[in-house]
Amino acid sequence: MTILDGKLLSENIKSELAAEVDQIRSRGGKIPHLAAVLIGENPASQVYVQSKIRSCEQVGFKSTLIQKDADTSEAELLEIVHQLNEDPDVDGFIVQLPLPKHIDEERITLAIDHRKDVDGFHPVNFGRMAQGLPAYLPATPFGIVEILRRYNIETAGKHCVVVGRSNIVGTPISILLSRKGYPGDCTVTLTHSRTRDLPGEVRRADIVVAAIGIPEFIKGDWVKEGAVVIDVGINRVPDATKKSGSRLAGDVAFDEVAPRSSHITPVPGGVGLMTVAALMVNTLKACKKEIYP
Ligand code: GUN
Repeated sequence: MTILDGKLLSENIKSELAAEVDQIRSRGGKIPHLAAVLIGENPASQVYVQSKIRSCEQVGFKSTLIQKDADTSEAELLEIVHQLNEDPDVDGFIVQLPLPKHIDEERITLAIDHRKDVDGFHPVNFGRMAQGLPAYLPATPFGIVEILRRYNIETAGKHCVVVGRSNIVGTPISILLSRKGYPGDCTVTLTHSRTRDLPGEVRRADIVVAAIGIPEFIKGDWVKEGAVVIDVGINRVPDATKKSGSRLAGDVAFDEVAPRSSHITPVPGGVGLMTVAALMVNTLKACKKEIYP
């Protein structure tokens, strides 16, 4: 069984980016600039946004953090989005989700200029991705395909079962893995809360992508011997043996599933770190106007 080391891969990607930024700087080119908007005090969002800003520093990007109170109005946030759309120095930006309930996430996502949508959440980027046109890929699916690519995991003709159909993970990864080329050419089953006999579906998988947001949901006897297991979950669960009183758990019961699998991502240290690296890759692409010349 091989542990798919997201920490190592994300560090490799960030070193590659840092080297490219050095080259850009030495020839006097524009330094990539990512802006992040954080509304409210959601503790998980604060951790994620801090990690994005820290990654910018590591690779030599410029970053701007715009933090506003939870009572920020939708109109105020739309104004921030418009300013970032217009700011020629900002190559790409993200609005961290979830947003407070009084703000319509769909309206905000649609207001972001798709050419600066380094999260890949805008329907223009989603549609282009689905048709195999150049697009910003959403960070988590991007992270998953990079793990498969960098570990040379065979995907052609494999049966991939995705658990969870969210707009930002389950649905896009099911599209990417079913598309022509590598990593892709899979036969994909997209499962969800209304799927009948979920354990039976997962048992047919050569590749399992768990993105359902329920801690340790995928059990050992659901997974075929030799399957590749990609665990997208980041769930905080109580643990009295830890000083903090809690620990992070994936969507996969790791101790049961790992011995049966050929490859598996750990939590933490797997997909999560790759998503931040993917955002950095998209920001560099935005700066180089690679997707939208
Ligand atoms: N919330 C959870 N994941 C993400 C992400 O990738 N981008 C943004 N903007 N918000 C998130």
